Amino acid sequence: MKPEKFLKGIHLFQSLNPEDCKQLAASLRRRSLKKGEILFRKGDEGSVLYIMKEGSMKITLPSRMGDEVVLAIFSKGDFFGEMSLLDGMSRSADAVALETSELFALNRSDFIAFLRNNEEAMQSILSYLTMRLRKTDDFLEDACFLSISARFAKKLVELAGTYGNREGDTVQIDLRLTQKDLASMVGATRESINKELRVLRERGLVSTEGNMIRILNLERLERRARL
Ligand code: CMP
Repeated sequence: MKPEKFLKGIHLFQSLNPEDCKQLAASLRRRSLKKGEILFRKGDEGSVLYIMKEGSMKITLPSRMGDEVVLAIFSKGDFFGEMSLLDGMSRSADAVALETSELFALNRSDFIAFLRNNEEAMQSILSYLTMRLRKTDDFLEDACFLSISARFAKKLVELAGTYGNREGDTVQIDLRLTQKDLASMVGATRESINKELRVLRERGLVSTEGNMIRILNLERLERRARL
């Protein structure tokens, strides 16, 4: 697919007229990453916006002890790295490829010029940043008030909604996440997620095959997320 057609498919860039879209697309650079490759680290200087073409990336906050918190997972059509471009500060988190990934990179000057000339895009990025803040508030609320079992069930329901592939009554989550990744997404230890997965398997709510998770009973999992 041509870069300009790809850009047009992304909400942030929808307001571009064909000529500006072509011009912006011409300034995109391609970037490929292997599974596990680090795109940037928290504290690095940030001068580029990334738009996901293929694959998936995780945005994480590392701890000194080697643990991490997963703030977000981005896949096709998502963008990230805008924070450093908007406030001129360093990268706020690490970005690591969860699988082989293809990205487009847009320089700060092109991105800022694009926002300045497109009121709709400016509005769109404000809504986007607000949505992220709301999600972060939800995460904090869950971390403070929900049990690990409920948090984990809620995360699986959310992943099924975003990355789920329905097959009959079951939903396969089309992401290969390790138990460590899952633990980092809900602020738990790998051991507790291992235990949770065992309980969910025993109760017939999920099945696992390697790092692939299949939801067998979404309704019961949703109920567990409210406990
Ligand atoms: P930047 O700070 O440039 O680099 C890290 C990127 O991760 C950041 O821009 C955002 O695009 C993204 N990011 C940081 N925090 C969050 C969050 N809480 N939720 C989703 N994405 C985030």
